[in-house]
Amino acid sequence: MSTSPRAKQDLEDSPAKRLKLDTEMPPPSDPRMPVFDRGLYLAPMVRIGSLPSRLLALEYGADLVWTPEIVDRAIMGTTRRVNASTGLVEFMKGDKQIFSCHPIERPYLIYQVGSSTPENAAEAVRIVTAHDDVAGVDLNCGCPKPFSTLGGMGANLLTEPDLLCDILRQMRRAAPPHVSVTCKIRLLPTQAETLALVEQIVRTRTIRALTIHCRTKPMRPREPALVDRFREIAAHVAKVAAETGQDVPVIYNGDCFGAGDAPRLRERTGASAVMMARAAELNPSCFRPRRACVATVIAPRWMHYAIHFDNPFGNTKYCVTQLAFSTMAGARESEGERVSPLPKRELIRIRTELSQARTHEDMARTLGLPWPLDTSEALALLRQALDQR
Ligand SMILES: Cc1cc2nc3c(=O)[nH]c(=O)nc-3n(C[C@H](O)[C@H](O)[C@H](O)COP(=O)(O)O)c2cc1C
Repeated sequence: MSTSPRAKQDLEDSPAKRLKLDTEMPPPSDPRMPVFDRGLYLAPMVRIGSLPSRLLALEYGADLVWTPEIVDRAIMGTTRRVNASTGLVEFMKGDKQIFSCHPIERPYLIYQVGSSTPENAAEAVRIVTAHDDVAGVDLNCGCPKPFSTLGGMGANLLTEPDLLCDILRQMRRAAPPHVSVTCKIRLLPTQAETLALVEQIVRTRTIRALTIHCRTKPMRPREPALVDRFREIAAHVAKVAAETGQDVPVIYNGDCFGAGDAPRLRERTGASAVMMARAAELNPSCFRPRRACVATVIAPRWMHYAIHFDNPFGNTKYCVTQLAFSTMAGARESEGERVSPLPKRELIRIRTELSQARTHEDMARTLGLPWPLDTSEALALLRQALDQR
């Protein structure tokens, strides 16, 4: 009796077949993959995690940097182009830059995919890895914002674990062997549900690391992260990983406000590594124990990168005006630490003028930079910082 194509497909999709595929799949352990078992990482942040922010985070000590979530359909249909003089790589749709990156960040760069369709996620991975532009690809399973969840993406995947795991399998198959696949989740309402979810994910034998943002989907950023739920989840991941012949580091995320916070959080949670978002949005030098002044150091450095790589102006203005132009570090770990030599009224003037700027030139002049700005040495400090690693 011959099997119909539909019946054959059903057989291939059956849980038994899938389980077999998972155990047949070699665990992802290519030595060329990035290392996730230590360090302090820049979290994925829509708009904020553009090229200049990532380069600054690396310059100031971030061990790995995530791109913002880029929805699969956004990168599909793009054309890749390389700027021969700066090395900038851009993925373009018409005149619109969908994603940009630079070879200097390649070993540290994790590209985050937004998806609810295994085929599209795989296509996004193929596009972004075709020229070896990134070290890893990550699936966003944590974003609670409507633009992500309405399409069934982001945090909605947490309650569709079979689909989530299918997406990871397709991403793993689409990625070259030396490119890692990882996944970023939030907590489910109960610990038991969360343990079951991470177990199912780890059993796919597709991921090189798992990031857990210790908030549930309805929790707002101002609500304290549920730090103490992490340790048991990380222990469960380690147990399932060991049973299935893998090593899956678990990255802690939620309310780490600076390099000084990280050892305490690692100790409290047992995490392999720690990821920071809002602290880096305010000041990307938060990866160092002592923050640099936004007005006199960080914003000018941001402008050097932005102008050198002709960053889209709307993005530059958004990111630079989100920086913390403050006299104090303003973060919990270093309350009382003065970071700016400028008086408060000068910081207010700069912030006001930046919010009214219409060009990169306006912004550079507001920050006291010469115009035209010589950016020929834009990458020198970053090269130096990376050489010292
Ligand atoms: C401006 C902004 C944009 C974000 N965009 C993303 C995103 O694209 N993908 C994602 O997985 N999480 C995103 N997040 C969530 C962060 O990655 C992180 O999980 C969350 O902010 C908790 O970390 P924190 O306490 O260090 O801020 C975003 C957060 C912020 C503040």
